[in-house]
Amino acid sequence: MAKIFSGIQPTGTITLGNYLGAIRQFIELQNDHEGLFCIVDQHAITVPQDRLELRKNIRNLAAIYLAAGLNPNKSTLFIQSEVPAHAQLGWIMQCNSYIGELERMTQFKDKSEGKDAVSAALLTYPPLMAADILLYGTELVPVGEDQKQHLELTRDLATRFNNKYGPVFVIPEVQIPKVGARIRSLQDPNKKMSKSDPNQKATITVLDPENLMTKKIKSAVTDSEGIVKYDLTNKLGVSNLLDIYSLVSGKSIASIEAEYDGRGYGDFKSGLAEVLVNHFKPLQEKYNHYINSTELDDILDEGAERANKVASKILRKVENAVGLGRKR
Ligand code: AQP
Repeated sequence: MAKIFSGIQPTGTITLGNYLGAIRQFIELQNDHEGLFCIVDQHAITVPQDRLELRKNIRNLAAIYLAAGLNPNKSTLFIQSEVPAHAQLGWIMQCNSYIGELERMTQFKDKSEGKDAVSAALLTYPPLMAADILLYGTELVPVGEDQKQHLELTRDLATRFNNKYGPVFVIPEVQIPKVGARIRSLQDPNKKMSKSDPNQKATITVLDPENLMTKKIKSAVTDSEGIVKYDLTNKLGVSNLLDIYSLVSGKSIASIEAEYDGRGYGDFKSGLAEVLVNHFKPLQEKYNHYINSTELDDILDEGAERANKVASKILRKVENAVGLGRKR
């Protein structure tokens, strides 16, 4: 079975963007792939984090992965910092990266823009991400559209390394969903929905209670036309809501447009809110089970053990290829 790897940062509660762009793909792919899914906490600290909040977010994310359907008997779920090979290979990948190519990353530009102090690690985030992926002989990486540039760099770094030191790394392919690859902010549809967005009204999280989910959908930015129609040039807000509606309900965009023809945005938003609330109810119930269980820690312990075994073997190959330490 082909190997897939993907990671999510514990930087807040999972949004509809993370869920539709990433987690849903993971759940589908785990049936016919060997899946490794990571909580990338070392990536999270490239920007300031409160330590108690970070710890809470790590456990929350693990419980959400499981509640969304990740099967720990099929897939490996683990925390990045519990597998030291990530940081070790990350350093080696940094040594084979150029500052110029890292400065060109749009995520670095976006997250450093206007900041007085920017950590060096925000710049070297992509070589660590490359290490995350390459440590497992990953063949496919399912991600949302925003990670495409980092994946292209991962492929470049792996190819560069193989050309210099010999064929150590598998060159991974990227898989971006056809729809849902970029869920937009509910308050500014020109921006993507992000879990660390300080404006709480901009995001729906998978754990939002019913009344909050409904309130956020009702206050989503649309336009003054009142026509439920998909149009990415003139009606970005409505089109984003239609994408969400279609992905969560399984209905086509055309059938949703027909259903709300002549009914205005009020009815459309109420319908969408109902669909979302019903979709996430079972996930929220399972989440409540996992977050209060010792099973969660057992799964993470087992995941770390499995990941450490695979990762330390590839790391050793890399260190031998580069000439680090003594021959083993
Ligand atoms: N808006 C989005 N639409 C579709 N997919 C998305 N992803 C993120 N936002 C959207 C995908 O979710 C996965 C996890 O991403 P991450 O936690 O590693 O970092 P990110 O891409 O930077 O996600 P956020 O929510 O924007 O986090 P913060 O706010 O911390 O920067 C990835 O597969 C990503 O593509």
